[in-house]
Amino acid sequence: MKWKKPAILLFIAVGLSIGIINVRNSTNLPDPVIEQSVILAGLDLPVSPEALGIKVTGSKELKISTPVVFKDEVISAKLFIPVVVESKIKTTSKGDNLLVLINKNTRLPSTYAPTGLVNVNSSIKIGYSGMKLRKAAADNLLKIFNDAKKKGYNLNLNSAYRSYQTQVNTYNYWVSQVGVIEANRFSAKPGHSQHQLGTTVDVTSDTVDEKLVASFGNTPEGKWLANNAYKYGFVLAYPAGYEHITGYTYEPWHFRYIGVSNAQSWKNSGLILESYLNKFGVW
Ligand code: DAL
Ligand code: ZN
Repeated sequence: MKWKKPAILLFIAVGLSIGIINVRNSTNLPDPVIEQSVILAGLDLPVSPEALGIKVTGSKELKISTPVVFKDEVISAKLFIPVVVESKIKTTSKGDNLLVLINKNTRLPSTYAPTGLVNVNSSIKIGYSGMKLRKAAADNLLKIFNDAKKKGYNLNLNSAYRSYQTQVNTYNYWVSQVGVIEANRFSAKPGHSQHQLGTTVDVTSDTVDEKLVASFGNTPEGKWLANNAYKYGFVLAYPAGYEHITGYTYEPWHFRYIGVSNAQSWKNSGLILESYLNKFGVW
């Protein structure tokens, strides 16, 4: 589909005025060709193309590792990443509900902290001291670690509850390291991390040097977790191949506790967690 010139000019003008075109300054992307082009700022557009009257259709996937500069005929492609409209982001007050949807479009208040946080059991190998979870999540995580040990798997807990302020620090750190576009693919903006719920963990193993890497998913430990964590109430939140739905790249280490019976019903549904919560969750 060809875009009419006024629509393109409007998009560029609005893009310039609200600063989305400046995004390239914080990345290593090539200089954009503004003439006859429309710039999509990538993962988290401050405003959706639709809001500017630009219809996004078609089926071409736009990988964000390629330049975010497109000739006008390419603008009709399907966005690879969900569009986030800042003004439409919802702040939920239901953080205590195990089935609350937390994603790029729904966040927790900066003041939210879960009640009933406990220290994770001291027998769990941890990446840093003081890790906390809600009690039911902590109890079931211990069962996972104990059962894994029986199989000879040495798991390591890399991250658990993250306060809003920790998310501010983490997100800003990653933006400073890789730029805002890449950071948004794997680091949640403050208030948007499931770790703020006190039910979410990052688990890795000594077979990948306790790192958070995609290859963890290919280890016996990673496979066992992916297949069995739901029996303990934990669900892999960001599976491979669903970035266009979850907004995040594959994270074989990131598991969210939703309760044992809910996790069984999630398993029966055949859905990814994001879709399951969209259907059965609250926000
Ligand atoms: N890595 C996930 C998306 C988080 O920051 O919560
Ligand atoms: Zn995580």
